Amino acid sequence: MQPDTPSAPPALELAGVAKSFGSVVALKSADLRVEKGSIHALIGENGAGKSTLVKIVAGLYRRDDGTLALDGEPVDFHTTAESKAAGIAVIYQEPTLFPDLSVTENIFMGRQPTRRFGRIDRRAMREEACALFDRLGVRIDPDRPTDGLSIADQQIIEIAKAISLDARVLIMDEPTAALSGVEVDRLFAVARALRDEGRALVFISHRFDEIFDLCDTVTVMRDGAYVDTLPVADTTVDGLVRMMVGRDVAELFPKLPAEIGDDVLVVDGLSQPGVFHDVSFTVRAGEIVGLAGLVGAGRSEVARAVFGVDPYASGSVRVDGEPLPPGSPRAAIGRGLALVPEDRRKQGLVLDQTVARNVTLAIRERLSRWGLVWDGLENAAARTWASRLEVKTAALDAETGTLSGGNQQKVVLGKWLASDPKVLIVDEPTRGIDVGTKAEVHRLLSRLAQQGVAVLMISSELPEVLGMADRVLVMREGRLTGELDRADATPEAVMHAATAEEALR
Ligand SMILES: Nc1ncnc2c1ncn2[C@@H]1O[C@H](COP(=O)(O)OP(=O)(O)OP(=O)(O)O)[C@@H](O)[C@H]1O
Ligand SMILES: [Mg+2]
Repeated sequence: MQPDTPSAPPALELAGVAKSFGSVVALKSADLRVEKGSIHALIGENGAGKSTLVKIVAGLYRRDDGTLALDGEPVDFHTTAESKAAGIAVIYQEPTLFPDLSVTENIFMGRQPTRRFGRIDRRAMREEACALFDRLGVRIDPDRPTDGLSIADQQIIEIAKAISLDARVLIMDEPTAALSGVEVDRLFAVARALRDEGRALVFISHRFDEIFDLCDTVTVMRDGAYVDTLPVADTTVDGLVRMMVGRDVAELFPKLPAEIGDDVLVVDGLSQPGVFHDVSFTVRAGEIVGLAGLVGAGRSEVARAVFGVDPYASGSVRVDGEPLPPGSPRAAIGRGLALVPEDRRKQGLVLDQTVARNVTLAIRERLSRWGLVWDGLENAAARTWASRLEVKTAALDAETGTLSGGNQQKVVLGKWLASDPKVLIVDEPTRGIDVGTKAEVHRLLSRLAQQGVAVLMISSELPEVLGMADRVLVMREGRLTGELDRADATPEAVMHAATAEEALR
């Protein structure tokens, strides 16, 4: 492809785009101009309107106002099919594959190549799927169902789909939120290759390191409106944060001194064949223990087993010296455990219920009088946490499913923090959460530890683990492969334990 002259029209241009849902104004006036052969970052706080903008370009929502143009030509999409046909591919914040269909069928959904007499040419589909995966440098079985694939692989399938459509604009809405370092590298290599072919990419992320690593241009949004567009090279993290938030943000990882007390959670020899093996650790009162490792190392599985949502074959869990019966989240909650799960949409929220109901789900017994939960009490409890976590919602009685991705995450966090736990297990506590609230979540975790809560924090963000943890455990392939005190926990030491061939102990 010839390099474009500077006067070439942008691949994608939005101007003055507005969108409301009833009384909720999601976009007031959004502008975005994405050049060909460019990777363009779109950033803003939770609820700023990024995903809404994406869904308008995708043809999922109709805009109320403003203009949309591709290669300088005004366009208007009534359906996602029209947007696809115009060369736009979108990888949504939540993967949208059909779990029962095979990998190949998902890639060719709705446009299967046909042979004579309209028969679907399965061989051709399968061969093209394999060719796409080769090109992306990944190994995924084209015949398996997509159900059970990691989120990383699901995203690669979405990208394969985009490439097979020969999309000229590829939009990725927080594609890295659920990926580990290696998988992020793989995704970035693919993105750069697509850029070099002259395609236009839009990349949404709350991680600044990724924006500086991958993108050439950045557009900042705030409260549904355009703020500015700049070359990434001309910006700093602090500058971008100020534009996003409109104020200074408190320090990330504020570690407060906490008195470390007795063992509260003691996990001994926990094993589940094929999932994790002989996992033993303790978390003491006032202590924040970080659990690091690559995605897929078994960290979430251990957390779920400890909390009783998943089974384990052998080993034991004790809380304050008393054994905790396996397989009973109810017993775990009764003994003061709380688990903020990784996959919050699936495991943490009732999307068609109100925000207030979700925040108070874990404390309903405490809020009830004569067997009834009173709206007043529910709202008061919900209001406290919604405001501490800066949940952006039109009202506490709004349906949780209408909140932005990051605000849904805050609701789950609020639900478990409201339960006043003795042992708090948080799985990727700040995934998908914007900088401002991230600092607030860190401060809350620090403060809970100071109040004597035993905190187990699973995180794939190394700076978060190193910044917050008193002690770092590392898992690899279902086993504990490292235990480091705060002072010894360097990025190199943690990465070594997470990836080294020989176990450290
Ligand atoms: N279907 C809907 N019904 C009602 N309100 C909605 C709907 N979709 C989005 N909103 C509201 O529009 C605003 C913008 O949401 P959007 O999802 O675009 O934010 P975002 O920038 O993607 O945030 P995040 O970083 O958390 O993903 C939010 O206040 C959200 O609650
Ligand atoms: Mg979003």
